[in-house]
Amino acid sequence: MTNLHEDRAIWITGAASGIGKAAAQEILREGGCVVGSDLPTADFSWAKDIDKMRCVAGSVSDLAHNALAVETAVSEFGHLDGAVLNAGMAGRINLFDGDMEFFDEVMDVNVRAVILGIRECASAMRPGSAITVTASTSGMRGDPGMWVYNTSKAAVINLVRSTSMDLAAKGIRINAVCPGPTETGMTTRFEGEPYDDMKRRIPLQRWGNASEVAAAHSFLLSSKASFITGAHLPVDGGMSANSGQFTPPPFSL
Ligand SMILES: NC(=O)c1ccc[n+]([C@@H]2O[C@H](COP(=O)([O-])OP(=O)(O)OC[C@H]3O[C@@H](n4cnc5c(N)ncnc54)[C@H](O)[C@@H]3O)[C@@H](O)[C@H]2O)c1
Repeated sequence: MTNLHEDRAIWITGAASGIGKAAAQEILREGGCVVGSDLPTADFSWAKDIDKMRCVAGSVSDLAHNALAVETAVSEFGHLDGAVLNAGMAGRINLFDGDMEFFDEVMDVNVRAVILGIRECASAMRPGSAITVTASTSGMRGDPGMWVYNTSKAAVINLVRSTSMDLAAKGIRINAVCPGPTETGMTTRFEGEPYDDMKRRIPLQRWGNASEVAAAHSFLLSSKASFITGAHLPVDGGMSANSGQFTPPPFSL
């Protein structure tokens, strides 16, 4: 532990599970305070007795929920110094006759809610604060059948680039973290053959774990990244370095 986040309060969305939970645990380990928010149905039992953590239930799509999370940081910890806008949803529909309501729902959670989160942060944060967004390698390229999710994640990567200009004027940095295949609640559906198939496409020949993605969030939020804004950082075992023409060779020592 290096106390990287000592005396800092960080809001994390989707904090009950996966990457959000790992980010909360990393920031707490580094001396920070955390306001974790997630859906009312989410299981926050792991955070119950943690002194420097507060939990808020609601949807990131809801303006009032975001306002409550930020108010909680200010009232409980005195300030808001960072945010990990991480909550997201995945899924696929047929391009030709899929229900466009699903597209609207994904864009609402993965894109519009991030804008709501950025706005809420900007009104409360002091210069020197930072925001990270969980995008995805899916936002950097195309995948068969994944047009809805990939469109939403590409949008947040450019949202981060664009808003970095406006936020810089307030002394606030913003960056995107782009995980590749990562073992979390969202990806349990890939168990079996799809899991192994994706593994073979990753040069490091394994899936990532949530703490490896959390480490990137922690770095980008910290003063160690003080000259980095508007960037997107793949955390993907080298997957996005591949043009896709050849499968990487198997791992050997
Ligand atoms: N796991 C991967 O392979 C992977 C890869 C790239 C990007 N991501 C992104 O990482 C982020 C975190 O996902 P994860 O993999 O940790 O999955 P996860 O399912 O373990 O966690 C996602 C959390 O977000 C919460 N959430 C969903 N909709 C919400 C809403 N409307 N309001 C509040 N909370 C909501 C869920 O309840 C859940 O706790 C997502 O944005 C996802 O798209 C994941």
